[in-house]
Amino acid sequence: MTNTAAIPSLDKAQAFTGRTHKLFIGGQWVEPMEEESFSTENPATGKKLAIVSKATAKDVDRAVAAARAAMNSSEWSEMKPSVRAKLMFRLADLLEANIDEFAALESLDNGKPVRDARYFDLPHAIETIRYNAGWATKLNGETIALSGPGTWHAYTLREPVGVVAQIVPWNAPIAMAAAKIAPALAAGCAIILKPAEETPLTALRLTHLIEEVGFPAGAFNLLTGFGDTAGAALTAHPDVDKVTFTGSTEVGRLILKAAAGNFKRVTLELGGKTPVIVMPDANVAQAIEGAARSIFTNTGQVCNAGSRLFVHQSHFDEVVEGVSKIAKAIKIGSGLDADTQMGPVISRTQRDRIRGYVSSGVQQGAMLYAGGEELDREGYFVSPTILTDTDAEMAVRREEIFGPVLCAMSFGEDELEQIATNANASEYGLGAVIWTNNLSAAHLLARKLKAGTVRVNGGGLDPALPFGGFKQSGWGRENGREGIEAYTETKAVAVAL
Ligand code: NAI
Ligand code: MG
Repeated sequence: MTNTAAIPSLDKAQAFTGRTHKLFIGGQWVEPMEEESFSTENPATGKKLAIVSKATAKDVDRAVAAARAAMNSSEWSEMKPSVRAKLMFRLADLLEANIDEFAALESLDNGKPVRDARYFDLPHAIETIRYNAGWATKLNGETIALSGPGTWHAYTLREPVGVVAQIVPWNAPIAMAAAKIAPALAAGCAIILKPAEETPLTALRLTHLIEEVGFPAGAFNLLTGFGDTAGAALTAHPDVDKVTFTGSTEVGRLILKAAAGNFKRVTLELGGKTPVIVMPDANVAQAIEGAARSIFTNTGQVCNAGSRLFVHQSHFDEVVEGVSKIAKAIKIGSGLDADTQMGPVISRTQRDRIRGYVSSGVQQGAMLYAGGEELDREGYFVSPTILTDTDAEMAVRREEIFGPVLCAMSFGEDELEQIATNANASEYGLGAVIWTNNLSAAHLLARKLKAGTVRVNGGGLDPALPFGGFKQSGWGRENGREGIEAYTETKAVAVAL
């Protein structure tokens, strides 16, 4: 039996799942045009969780028109930056006031341990909104000195890019929604947010808070629905100016093609195959703990999960044994059980996909060092798994598994160039982690690694730190100054004096 007695506000979250969920367009809750709905499931049980409206292309048209109307309205387009900031700070405060309910809802919807949602995802979402609210009043152009003949006053303006479609995945629903909407609202864009069909609930609940805060009608719109219908219609729509997307590399490619019609601006956060490198001088105990956390957090459903572990041969046995010990001790269960350390994966499809990778690796000669057994229980559970004896050609080494599956390799060389070459042997380039106490090696390796984020000896996400991928891990950056500037167009103005 799951012990849920200690989960604060679980009753509120459960009551919310049972409500009728409409679409939010132009400041109103409306029925979908085709009057269709779909149900979501709780991944810890496989049972039905909520019934949600299913937006189709007609709803996309309505939502885009509402967003365009907001961009054309003086209420939104001429709102003072400090007022935009104030609305956003109020939204962050409201989210914080309801943090327990959101954490319980996220756990029901996504399966993650409620503690992780409460102490990581939600604080991160709140901080992201506050961080970007601060930018609203600091988005400035520059004055430019021109060298041509004549006397000039030249400057740049930063204007909102316009109507933005934001498509987010299911692995960190509220944190991803915040990472998308916060910079866009701070920059003065009008948004259509489409959460993943697997996890629409915290975005729906957040929309009620946005309504309560009182953003102008059409500045924020929410469409729940599927990728190949609502998502595809958004990315192809001729009146959408920008698409921002987090999800699979495969869909990222479709979005690029769809965006070509009207040259939409595109920001993509795609998959990863992050290397974790343990150098000979690393603090081994910390590296073991860090390597385990990097691959097992959120049941491995993290774009930046450290899925390839490269350990210097002097520590290989100790590190792999240490990570394996942690893996075997992880308490797997419902996210609503206070003792749970690892929840289910999101769906049957993802569970079968992960199992498929593990068995293909084993068939090709990899050794199952830990995990890999099928868990006989309701819901979609996968055990933390470690593979050794893989080679660089195997799918488990090349492709994003998006589950708690680690490939562990040893290296003998001390040449940084060779270590970096091995770590860089991937089509992805999202993150890299180095464990070392050698200052020079840390910085030199950081330069050689082809990754959007390099972390040394730990560290987490921060809304101030640009995040994004090299190579097939994406286009552009979220977070930081670059993240908000990506929601603007630069206009150059030159005045002959
Ligand atoms: P997906 O990329 O299909 O779904 C992510 C979002 O994109 C969802 O909101 C979905 O509705 C939307 N979408 C799907 N097809 C679309 C289309 N044609 N046009 C516009 N939007 C569309 O990811 P999926 O199928 O859920 O997961 C498959 C794999 O993708 C995972 O195993 C993982 O490897 C990767 N993935 C990576 C994520 C990341 O954080 N980088 C997040 C989710 C998945
Ligand atoms: Mg898909």
